[in-house]
Amino acid sequence: MLSEIPAKISKLKGKELDKQILRLGIIAELDAVNLYEQMASLTKNRKIRETLLDIAREEKAHVGEFESMLFMIDKEQVTEYAKGKKEVEEQFIKL
Ligand SMILES: [Fe+2]
Repeated sequence: MLSEIPAKISKLKGKELDKQILRLGIIAELDAVNLYEQMASLTKNRKIRETLLDIAREEKAHVGEFESMLFMIDKEQVTEYAKGKKEVEEQFIKL
């Protein structure tokens, strides 16, 4: 289930508001990546496909920008991200 945007966010303040804004930015950028890559896979026009994939790459950089800013203000996210990364790496070692 998707969160309600931006109805509930307007009730937040300070650091909590900033964390929500950055997470929403990440969501929006990831959605844009999907949209551009899906459209690129549909078109038969090479130039349009290349442009869409180039823009999708830029959106991935935007994900990194928002994520980096979120990591600066949400230390729990940093810790949990590292835990998740470690779990996946351990699973791949087992495969
Ligand atoms: Fe973007």
